Amino acid sequence: MVGARRSPRGRLVRATAVAGGVAPLASLGVRGALGTLGANPVEALTHVTGEWALRFLVLSLCVTPARRWLGWSWLAPERRTLGLFAFGYACLHIATYLVFDLGLSLSSLAEDVLERPYITAGFTAFLSLVPLAATSTRASIKRLGPRWRQLHRLAYFAAVAACVHFVWLVKADGLEPTIYAAVVGFLLIARLPRRQPAV
Ligand code: HEM
Repeated sequence: MVGARRSPRGRLVRATAVAGGVAPLASLGVRGALGTLGANPVEALTHVTGEWALRFLVLSLCVTPARRWLGWSWLAPERRTLGLFAFGYACLHIATYLVFDLGLSLSSLAEDVLERPYITAGFTAFLSLVPLAATSTRASIKRLGPRWRQLHRLAYFAAVAACVHFVWLVKADGLEPTIYAAVVGFLLIARLPRRQPAV
């Protein structure tokens, strides 16, 4: 409920979600400080941030089915937390690419978006996440009313675009992106409105 005080269980769930969201970043920081990011630290940064962006996006989409099918309504407020972590990791992912691969050249990024299909798909996913993050506040939920729900269906589109990005960039073993694509496909089908039985 908007503005309601959180129960002890709610606080624990929130703390777990935040700790889980911060952990990959902390691990990256520690590995960076210890110099154990591997032979190509930039590649490691790009891969880890990209994977976690997708993982949090998929996890955020799992919240509604978990509430509907398992009755886990206590998870509902964390949809926003997970979505914001997805956006945060996506920002870090793109910033890594922009700073280390492209030397902060926005024109090179624009060229890549226009000429490399997997970057086009990644950029599409990112653009779809922006309005979701921008309207994630309680004030926006109130202001937009039922339109907020409609707008936030964009999360599915973002997840599909992110899977396309992953599938297209992988050159050899396509198993991992295929698994993500299958999970997102399943979540999408599960959200389709059910046909009402004829009376
Ligand atoms: C402008 C937007 C984006 C750019 C320029 C971009 C760029 C990249 C690059 C350069 C790679 C590594 C490619 C390689 O290994 O050859 C990559 C991998 C990846 N990206 Fe993105 N990306 C973008 C948006 C996104 C978004 C929004 C997501 C998820 C929500 C995402 C998820 C991933 C994943 C899952 C990988 C694969 C990581 C792995 O290899 O394990 N990307 N991206």
